[in-house]
Amino acid sequence: MIGIALVTGAGGGLGTAICKVLAKKGFRIIAVDLLEEEKLKNQLSEIRASLELIFGGVDFSKPEVVTAIVESFLPNKNWTVLVNNAGISIGGKLIDGTLEQWNAMMNVNLTVPFVLSQAFVRNVNKTGGGGSIINISSMAGIIGAKKPGYAASKAGLIGLTKAVAMQVGPNIRCNAVYPGAMNTPMTADWDQKTRQAIAKNTPIGRIAEPEEIAQIVAFLADSEQSGFLTGAIINATGGQYLGQ
Ligand SMILES: NC(=O)c1ccc[n+]([C@@H]2O[C@H](COP(=O)([O-])OP(=O)(O)OC[C@H]3O[C@@H](n4cnc5c(N)ncnc54)[C@H](O)[C@@H]3O)[C@@H](O)[C@H]2O)c1
Repeated sequence: MIGIALVTGAGGGLGTAICKVLAKKGFRIIAVDLLEEEKLKNQLSEIRASLELIFGGVDFSKPEVVTAIVESFLPNKNWTVLVNNAGISIGGKLIDGTLEQWNAMMNVNLTVPFVLSQAFVRNVNKTGGGGSIINISSMAGIIGAKKPGYAASKAGLIGLTKAVAMQVGPNIRCNAVYPGAMNTPMTADWDQKTRQAIAKNTPIGRIAEPEEIAQIVAFLADSEQSGFLTGAIINATGGQYLGQ
């Protein structure tokens, strides 16, 4: 079912790729990001004709801001896809982390997906039809990471995915994708040594390009292709750390 897809973090590496792939499939896009509106527009200029709405300068570390955004276009029977992609990875090891960093990661990575999922499901229930929620988790949510807030929020997103999936069928599906390492601004400061070590531990032999993960998101968005998938936690790591 094609309709409107709301994509968070639409100005980032993966978010932009997701918007482009979904637009190519025929979806109209609602783009939301912390990035200011003009920059977000520039970032998505290639798919200008597919943009339904743009919300720039939206800070998910205050989850309540999302409610006003969503209310501005509801009820909307064409809102069929929600991609919870925005994410942050800040701070360091347990001993160095601050409560401020922990709260920011929880809000952006987990609380906003909860609030948006609630709004999405309420809207579909009110207007009829169906839809698909896709959550972008991380390998850190499965195997852990030295950033407790990141690992915990991404593991939490997997729990949220399963909890939502079991409550919203048959007309709404909810799945998660967990990438390993991806070439985006989030990993831009990784040195060559780190990249090579990851590639060595990845059967596919390299770090993912965001377009490759976006294709998986597009598959999950399309109920004709993935209509029997819900509650699935999809490994999109290129096999990174398999067998370890
Ligand atoms: N890059 C990787 O290696 C990798 C690996 C696994 C999972 N992920 C996940 O993929 C998703 C996309 O990340 P990316 O790699 O494209 O990174 P990115 O930094 O390019 O994009 C993240 C986006 O989130 C937005 N954002 C950040 N803070 C925000 C806030 N307070 N409010 C609203 N929006 C905010 C940013 O503006 C940006 O557009 C994230 O959820 C990330 O955790 C990334």
